[in-house]
Amino acid sequence: MFVNASEMLKAAKAGHYAVGHFNTNNLEWTKSILLAAEEMKSPVIVGVSEGAAKYMTGFSVVAAMVREMDKALGITVPVALHLDHGSYEGAKACVAAGFTSIMFDGSKYTIEENIEKTKELVALAHSKGMSIEAEVGAIGGEEDGVIGAGEIADPAECKLIADLGVDFLAAGIGNIHGKYPANWKGLDFEALDRIQQMTGDLPLVLHGGTGIPEEMIKKAISLGVSKINVNTECQLVFAEATRKYIEAGKDLEGKGFDPRKLLAPGAAAIQKAVCEKIELFGSANKA
Ligand code: 13P
Repeated sequence: MFVNASEMLKAAKAGHYAVGHFNTNNLEWTKSILLAAEEMKSPVIVGVSEGAAKYMTGFSVVAAMVREMDKALGITVPVALHLDHGSYEGAKACVAAGFTSIMFDGSKYTIEENIEKTKELVALAHSKGMSIEAEVGAIGGEEDGVIGAGEIADPAECKLIADLGVDFLAAGIGNIHGKYPANWKGLDFEALDRIQQMTGDLPLVLHGGTGIPEEMIKKAISLGVSKINVNTECQLVFAEATRKYIEAGKDLEGKGFDPRKLLAPGAAAIQKAVCEKIELFGSANKA
């Protein structure tokens, strides 16, 4: 069921759980994410960065793949296809390409310019029945060339962006894309609490979901986080399973080099990781 992410996140917020956003890179990734969501009877958001979309040869190719796979696999749970950390141009392109949801990451602009561009994109997305995420306070680390300073979002700025009618908001609270460094200070829950108080019922988004300890995830959800983004973890489990297969010499046995066999352990590892996250986020059986 191909939908926007608005209703599933409103329900998550009201039900005190979070919906997982899992980044896709290709056909195997997409299939594993969709099968995991169906297995767990959970709504899911398939996220695509601009870099991954370019790798897959374009937004319309991604939209067609996810939409058709959703149908072909007979997926019954709600699935949103969401642009991750979109640029202004990328967000517009995804509206035209048939995504159901976009993120405009205006955190690198001044707050005035972020407001101006977000406002325009809110009107555009909503005119097409799509949901839209905005960002205040850059997420730390690097994802597909999008580099953030890792600043804590200013709650007053969050309110300004929330008031534009965005459906959910990513606010930096010390979270980082990729692996967390050993000296990471953890999430800033006071900031999260202040941001939620300023933004009322708006679902908040936690980026950098890989490597955040379970108790912090649960606390973040209790303070208003309704969407959690995971990317690196699926890459790590895929690489590890593929390495094991090759190091065990399985690709050299019989027709073990067949790409469908070679990629199968990695795909299964992604499916398992997504199921585990869904369980942790509390969205199992909420479809
Ligand atoms: P991780 O790669 O740290 O899981 O972060 C994913 C993310 O926030 C995508 O926007």
